[in-house]
Amino acid sequence: MPRENLIVALDVGTDKVATLVAVQDETGLKYVGKGVADNESGMIAGNVVNLEATSSAIRNSVAQAEKVSSKIIKSVYVSISGEQIRSTSGRGVVTIRGSEVAQVDIDNVISQAMTLNISGDREIVNVEIGEFVVDGRTGIRNPKGMACKKLEVEVLILTASMTMLRNLVKAVEDAKLQVAGLLVSGIASSWAVLEEDEKKLGVALVDIGGGSADIAIYSKGDPIFTASVPLGGRNITNDISRVLKIPPQEAEKIKCDKGDVNSENIPETEEVDVIEIGTNKSCKKKVRQLSAVLTPRVEEILIEVKKRLQESRKENMIQTNVVITGGTANLKNIEQLASEIFEQPVRIGRPNVDEKGTGFQDVLCSTSFSTAVGMVNYFASRDRVVFAKESESIISKIINYLKQLFIL
Ligand SMILES: Nc1ncnc2c1ncn2[C@@H]1O[C@H](COP(=O)(O)OP(=O)(O)OP(=O)(O)O)[C@@H](O)[C@H]1O
Ligand SMILES: [Mg+2]
Repeated sequence: MPRENLIVALDVGTDKVATLVAVQDETGLKYVGKGVADNESGMIAGNVVNLEATSSAIRNSVAQAEKVSSKIIKSVYVSISGEQIRSTSGRGVVTIRGSEVAQVDIDNVISQAMTLNISGDREIVNVEIGEFVVDGRTGIRNPKGMACKKLEVEVLILTASMTMLRNLVKAVEDAKLQVAGLLVSGIASSWAVLEEDEKKLGVALVDIGGGSADIAIYSKGDPIFTASVPLGGRNITNDISRVLKIPPQEAEKIKCDKGDVNSENIPETEEVDVIEIGTNKSCKKKVRQLSAVLTPRVEEILIEVKKRLQESRKENMIQTNVVITGGTANLKNIEQLASEIFEQPVRIGRPNVDEKGTGFQDVLCSTSFSTAVGMVNYFASRDRVVFAKESESIISKIINYLKQLFIL
C-alpha cells in the first residue's frame, strides 16, 4: 500500500474561508478538493469577532471540500494573519565540542537563537529556520556532519497574541476539526506565488485580502520580516457603498466588475447600473466616479504597506520587486499604482498550479487562493508542524520537529 498523506489547508480569511485538499504520495502532490464559504460577519482584520459565524463558515467550507474530494477531513492546517502577529529575528552561536556538527549542536544553536523574551500573553506560531553559518561560511542549509568549530544560525520567530490564537483555534475546534499546524498568511502566500530567485535576491510579498494586507519580506531565500496592515477590500467596498449611496452588495459587485485605479482610461460617459439604497430602484453611476471613490482608499492601503516596509529597516533588501496577491490584487491597474507608491517594480502573483484535471483549476490559480495553495506547498514540502499547545514546551516541540527534519 503506498503511503498517502492528506494535506488540508484551511484559510480562515476575513472575506471567505477557503479549504484546499491535497493528496501527497511518492508520485507527487495532487489537489483533490476545495470549498469556499463567505465569512463576512466572522472576522475583522484577522481576528475572530463572531465565533459562531466563523465556525459555521469553516464547517460549510470543509463540508464542500469533503464532498468534492470524497475524503473525510478531521485535521487541518490553519492560516493566521493580522496586525497582532509579530516577527522577531534571532541568532544563535555555539562552539562545537566534537570535530563535526552533531544533531545536539543543531538543537543547541536553534534553541539559543530562540531565547527571546516572549511576553506571557503571546505564543510562538512559526519558527522559520534560515541559513546556518559554519566557521564563517554562510548559506549552509543542513550542517549535520560538517567539520566545524563555531556554528551559527538565523531564525525568524513569529508570535501571535494568545487571545487571538485561542479564538481562532476554538472556531476550528467548534467545527469538530483538529488543528494540525498554523501558518502566518504572508509566509503561506509566499509559498504559492514567489519564485525561488526572487526569494534569494530579495522580494516583498503583499497579500491584500478583504480585511488585511499581509506582508512578508524575503532575502537570501528566507523570510526576514512579516507585518500586516488592518485594511483591505472590505474598506474599499464600504467607501463605495457610503459615497455612492448603494447597498454593500452592489458596491462589491461594481467594484469587482468595473473597479479601476486609473480613471484616465475610463470613457467619461461610461456608466454602470446599480440598485439605490432604500428605494430598490435601478439607477446609473459613472464608472469614473467609482474610480474616484476607490482610488484614495487603495492608495491609503499601499502607503500603509510602504510605511511597514520602511519601518522594518529591511526595505533595502528588496532587490527584485514587490509581488501583490490576494483578492484585491484583481483591481484594474493596481500594479501601476503600487509601483508608483513603492518606487519599485511590482507584479501580480498568482498561484501557478497546473492541475487541469481537477475541475477547479480556475480557483487554484486565483489570487484569493494564494494563501491556501501556499499552505499546501509549505506543509507538503516537509512536515513543518510548529504549533505549541499551552501545556507543552515550545522549544522542545520545535526541537523534536527539527530532529525529524534533519534525520530525513
Ligand atoms: N475583481 C476584483 N476587483 C477588486 N476586488 C476584488 C476582486 N475580486 C475580489 N476582490 C476583493 O478581494 C477581497 C477578498 O480577497 P481574499 O479572498 O484574498 O480575502 P480574505 O483572504 O478572505 O481576507 P483576509 O486575507 O484579509 O483575511 C474582497 O474584498 C473582494 O471584494
Ligand atoms: Mg487572505
